[in-house]
Amino acid sequence: MIAIGSDHAGYLLKADIIKFLEEKGLQVKDFGTNSCNSVDYPDFGQAVAEAVSSKECEKGILICGTGIGISISANKVPGIRAALCTDSYMARMSRQHNDANILAIGERVVGPGVAFDIIETFLNTEFLGGRHGNRVNKISNIEKKYNISK
Ligand code: RB5
Repeated sequence: MIAIGSDHAGYLLKADIIKFLEEKGLQVKDFGTNSCNSVDYPDFGQAVAEAVSSKECEKGILICGTGIGISISANKVPGIRAALCTDSYMARMSRQHNDANILAIGERVVGPGVAFDIIETFLNTEFLGGRHGNRVNKISNIEKKYNISK
């Protein structure tokens, strides 16, 4: 199950992405928003991040205008590694090197075609582990230091 969420500035791209994922036979849980009316991106970043952190959903996709605010918000939830990607190279690296569990995209930055490439790469690339695993563990250690680990 893939969790998806956006603010108003990501709403139209979210609708395209849901269609894209469902046409591939993937199951999607939509955490809103449900229109282009102005809302606050942290609410949707938090909802998707909590669904991924609790393992209700395996991965998440978040969209706002730039992808910046919603990724910053998601990264406050323990266990979340949200990666803002503008091309498929970043999406591949976010999985291979960072074991990212949420992909963030900016509707005002990339069009649907690039977004679909990014998503395809993100969902089909495995974490490499090894030295990258040690580094990801160090990210978890930062959470532990501040008592916010899962
Ligand atoms: C909304 O205008 C915009 O600020 C938001 O979608 C996002 O780009 C924030 O980082």
